[in-house]
Formats: sequence, structure tokens, C-alpha cells
Amino acid sequence: KETKDQLIIDAGQKHFGATMCKSCGMIYTASNPEDELQHVQHHHRFLEGIKYAGWKKERVVAEFWDGKIVLVLSHDPSYAIRKVEDVQELVDYELGFQQVVSRCPNRTKTFLFISDEKKVVGCLIAEPIKQAFRVLSEPTGPESPSSKECHRAWQCSDVPEPAICGISRIWVFRLKRRKRIARRLVDTLRNCFMFGCFLSTNEIAFSDPTPDGKLFATKYCNT
Ligand code: ACO
Ligand code: ZN
Repeated sequence: KETKDQLIIDAGQKHFGATMCKSCGMIYTASNPEDELQHVQHHHRFLEGIKYAGWKKERVVAEFWDGKIVLVLSHDPSYAIRKVEDVQELVDYELGFQQVVSRCPNRTKTFLFISDEKKVVGCLIAEPIKQAFRVLSEPTGPESPSSKECHRAWQCSDVPEPAICGISRIWVFRLKRRKRIARRLVDTLRNCFMFGCFLSTNEIAFSDPTPDGKLFATKYCNT
């Protein structure tokens, strides 16, 4: 493990750091054969996974100048379910999740943001919940634990609060971030999750947010 790290560092010194692939978004060291191989493998799998050919029956729930949002439900045709599974696999890989089986897959709603280039560039997976625990504001100051240690261990209140909808995954393709795609996915979820009502931000909860997810959720819920 140590020698491998050392190799990457050496390569980085000679070539001044990492490259980001302009089509799959992976960051790697082009001068490192192992890294390059890993990129080639990821590249094809990823681009194949997010390819969206268009479906005979698709549930378009929002349309924008740069794409549309398609909703997939558990009883949809197998081609739709397969695409959702492929995308979820890529998302879970990126988030470092182990294969987690959803607790109530038949009530899961998946929203895919399809770009004009016919790619799935955003994904939101939601399920009904009954309660959630509010994330407490982070302790700051010299006594707070190192940022590495609190990577995911946010402090949560132990008082449950009623909630309706849990967001188990939210993801946007690296090269399409900060274009309000996540915001539009959550807006659409709030509008479509329960027929005839627009959920308030108090009624939705983000499960186990990553640092990116927490930054987004904080911003989203305050505006
Ligand atoms: N840093 C700081 N602020 C951010 C960030 C960030 N990384 N991401 C979003 N925000 C805030 C900004 O204020 C932004 O508005 P602005 O661009 O006008 O300043 C606002 O949130 C809205 O952001 P969007 O553009 O809608 O967010 P985006 O489409 O880039 O997607 C997401 C955000 C989904 C978190 C994306 O960064 C991502 O996919 N990250 C990797 C996967 C991940 O960590 N997902 C969350 C897992 S947690 C869970 O699934 C429950
Ligand atoms: Zn690539």
C-alpha cells in the first residue's frame, strides 16, 4: 500500500498532479499506468451507465431549457428499472456505499435528470418515512474534532421529528455540478412525492449526508 502511494506521489511530482477526464469526470494521474487502466475501465462503464436512449413510455415530470426530469416507479417496465439500478450502482460506487437494499423498494421513487445530450446527469432516490432527526449545527472552535474524524458523523438531535419523505441518494454528474440540477430535482420531488401537495423543507430529510450533500442541503433548506 505504501509503495503504491509513493509511486503516485512521484508521478505527481514529475507531471504536476492529476488530470480530470473531460467526458467521464474521473480525476486520475495520466502518467501512472495503474491509474490509467482504472480510468479506462471506469470511463466505459460510466458512460455506458449514464447513456439514456429514451423510452417508449416515460414519465416526464419537469422540463427545462437544458434537460428534463423523468420519474421512475417500482412497477415500471424492466428497461426503466434496469437503468435506475445501473445509475444507482455508479452513484453508490462514487459515494463509497456498500450495496444497500432499500427498505421498501416498492415505495421508492427515483427522479432522473436527463440532459440534452441524452445522459443521466442527476439522480434522486426518495422513499416515504415517518420521522427524522435534525442535524445539529457543527461544533466549531479549537476543541472540535478533526475534519477527517467527523467526515460523516454529524451530531444529530435525539428527538425525532415528523417527516414524510426521505432522500436516500442525491447525485449530480461531476461535470454538471453547480448548475442547480440538484435544486431542481428536490423542487420536483417536493411537487410530485405526494399527490396534490407541495412538501415543505421540514417534511423532507436527507439521510446520512456527505460533506457535499450537507452543503447543498443547508443552502437549499434556507432559501
Ligand atoms: N459546496 C458548497 N455549496 C454547494 C455545493 C458544494 N459542493 N454544492 C451545492 N452547494 C450549494 C450552493 O449554494 C448552490 O448554489 P450556487 O451554485 O448558486 O452557489 C446550491 O447548493 C444549489 O446547488 P446545485 O447546483 O443545485 O447542486 P448540484 O447540482 O451541484 O448538486 C450535489 C449537489 C448533489 C451534492 C453534488 O455535489 C453531488 O452529486 N455530489 C457528490 C455526491 C454526493 O455527495 N451526494 C450527496 C449525498 S447525501 C445523500 O445522498 C442523502
Ligand atoms: Zn474518462
